[in-house]
Amino acid sequence: MDLMRLENVGKRFDTISVLDGITMTVDEGQFIAVVGPSGCGKSTLLRIIAGLISPTTGQVLLAGRLLTGVNPETALVFQSFALLPWLTVQANVELGLEARRILVAERRRRAGFYIDKVGLEGYEEAYPRELSGGMRQRVGLARALAVEPKILLMDEPFSALDALTAISLRELVLDLWADPQVPVNACIMVTHIIEEAVELADRVLVLSTHPGRIVKEVEVTLPRPRDKRWPEFNEYVDQIFSLMA
Ligand SMILES: Nc1ncnc2c1ncn2[C@@H]1O[C@H](COP(=O)(O)OP(=O)(O)OP(=O)(O)O)[C@@H](O)[C@H]1O
Ligand SMILES: [Mg+2]
Repeated sequence: MDLMRLENVGKRFDTISVLDGITMTVDEGQFIAVVGPSGCGKSTLLRIIAGLISPTTGQVLLAGRLLTGVNPETALVFQSFALLPWLTVQANVELGLEARRILVAERRRRAGFYIDKVGLEGYEEAYPRELSGGMRQRVGLARALAVEPKILLMDEPFSALDALTAISLRELVLDLWADPQVPVNACIMVTHIIEEAVELADRVLVLSTHPGRIVKEVEVTLPRPRDKRWPEFNEYVDQIFSLMA
């Protein structure tokens, strides 16, 4: 049984069709990247998967069951980090756990565990303004992971960071993905950076614009860690680029 399946999902805002006929399956153990030009509906797709908005047509199935409302198997990492400035790192990471009515002691434990996992041990009592962009996104990752979602969703998670910081965060995501102590079963990452998709993903879904449709799905079979200098790496990049162009 697949973890999740989208069947013929479409979304309209007023008269504009943003997504159309999106059918995709999310299997256990898969890292999926969704690439497409700005405005093609990538964030809308992630919001539908997270159950924050509902599709106009089609359906989202979770282990075969129709999703209605917020998707309990997902947690979202935002491009803008979306931390609450008046809360400490610890309290920000505990936020999603409070909403899920997890008891205080377990909240503390889990938040501490994931703060360590993202490399922020010692910053539990710091406030977001005291952190660099990279550290803030580490908090964003810890907050999503603390929920222990089966499916981790990331919406352009590194695009607000400088190039070097983005490199270290991509490495962190790969380390967490390979870590048997981190119980994430699948990842879906939205990006407009093709190299990022090829570096991280097992499958790359290429979206078109107006309306957003899946043009093609590219399976990336390179071993990890992947090197941008590999000819095969660049062949994937070129292939996806020509699909988007
Ligand atoms: N709540 C809304 N009401 C009306 N239109 C919307 C709404 N949300 C998104 N849209 C429109 O839907 C289209 C797709 O938006 P979306 O944010 O999903 O694109 P995106 O691929 O994530 O773009 P970007 O790469 O810039 O983040 C855009 O034209 C946007 O203006
Ligand atoms: Mg977006």
